[in-house]
Amino acid sequence: MIAHSMLPLVEGNAAVKAMFEDGRLMAERYGAENVYDFSLGNPNLYPPEAVKKAMIDILNNEDPHKVHGYMSNAGFESTRRAVAENLNKRFNTDFGAKNIIMTVGAGSALNIALRTILDPGDEVIVFAPYFLEYRNYIANYSGITIEVSPNPEHGFMPDMDEFAYKVNRRTRAVILNTPNNPTGAIYPDTVIKQISDILAAKEKEFSTTIYLISDEPYRELIYDDQPVVCTSKYYDDTLIAYSFSKSLSLPGERIGYLAVPEMADEADEFVEAATIANRISGDVNAPSLAQLTIERCLDEKVDVDYYKKNAEDLYNIVTEAGFSCVKPQGAFYLWMKSPIANDAEFVAAAKEEHIIMVPGTSFAGPGNVRLSFCVSNEVIQNSREAFKRLGKRYFG
Ligand SMILES: Cc1ncc(COP(=O)(O)O)c(C=O)c1O
Repeated sequence: MIAHSMLPLVEGNAAVKAMFEDGRLMAERYGAENVYDFSLGNPNLYPPEAVKKAMIDILNNEDPHKVHGYMSNAGFESTRRAVAENLNKRFNTDFGAKNIIMTVGAGSALNIALRTILDPGDEVIVFAPYFLEYRNYIANYSGITIEVSPNPEHGFMPDMDEFAYKVNRRTRAVILNTPNNPTGAIYPDTVIKQISDILAAKEKEFSTTIYLISDEPYRELIYDDQPVVCTSKYYDDTLIAYSFSKSLSLPGERIGYLAVPEMADEADEFVEAATIANRISGDVNAPSLAQLTIERCLDEKVDVDYYKKNAEDLYNIVTEAGFSCVKPQGAFYLWMKSPIANDAEFVAAAKEEHIIMVPGTSFAGPGNVRLSFCVSNEVIQNSREAFKRLGKRYFG
């Protein structure tokens, strides 16, 4: 018999499974070219050629004991040093190898960070809409998720008054995700500064440490001229969760890291505890071949212009069909207003036109839908008429 605490997760998962299964069944029935599946955040681009070359070279030429053996639970020293130096080169920071823990993707980096800081009943603030998996990660350590609503005037940014009000003595962390899943928005530095100022004041007021966990798997996927900001420059107690799942199209390789800046509260003790958290999570260490590979590919990224064109084309198609949305600034998601309050009903209507998208309710953002555009540009072009028909249903 499974634990009671797993029952709602199994139930929730059934809906997700059904949605993915729907896409497959529809493709079988109508032909893949007649189904426009915007549900999955699974990168469609191949990894850069340098990744394959590095892997082959490592397998051919490095000592197998090193490539396939255990190493420190925090990862290879050389990989951690390379990651730190790459961050320093790009952001003018001062990370060293000792500030980096290689992890099984960003998902694991977040879990390790939360395991390191949460006692049962501690609170973690998230900004709606958000990647709903955060809730499960927080619950893994008996933490409590506290949601902050979006600002009614700037729907993609948090309501700062509500945020300030909700930070209390039990607040251990705030999770910030930029570029954002599901909105495709990038937090401007003014907003990050506001969040940081509020947290710094609250730390002082309560004499506590409140971590700002910056979840950045989409850091390299940016479509306008906004500079990529390094969150740890705004706030000392920042933890950076990064992943190569999207920037190098390697989600199955499960490789990322947790960066703990030197200025963070008791950074050395934190890294020691987080390294143990990595081990006892059962991950033990990040995959060794993937670590050695990314060490050689830190300046590589997928063809971001491909996603940029997808963002523009999909934006044009849905707005021409009458729907309202903001052009994505980053990640590979377009957040669109549902023309009816019930987003699940809208998603069902879209399915009748062979368009598959995810209801905003799945991201604590009811009244909206998320469209993933990490698909071939052909899928987007082919969806034009379907969106027109869908638009006609609501706007005439
Ligand atoms: C916002 C966000 N955070 C974390 C993750 C986890 O990524 P990873 O594959 O690195 O575990 C994802 C994956 O889609 C994501 O969208």
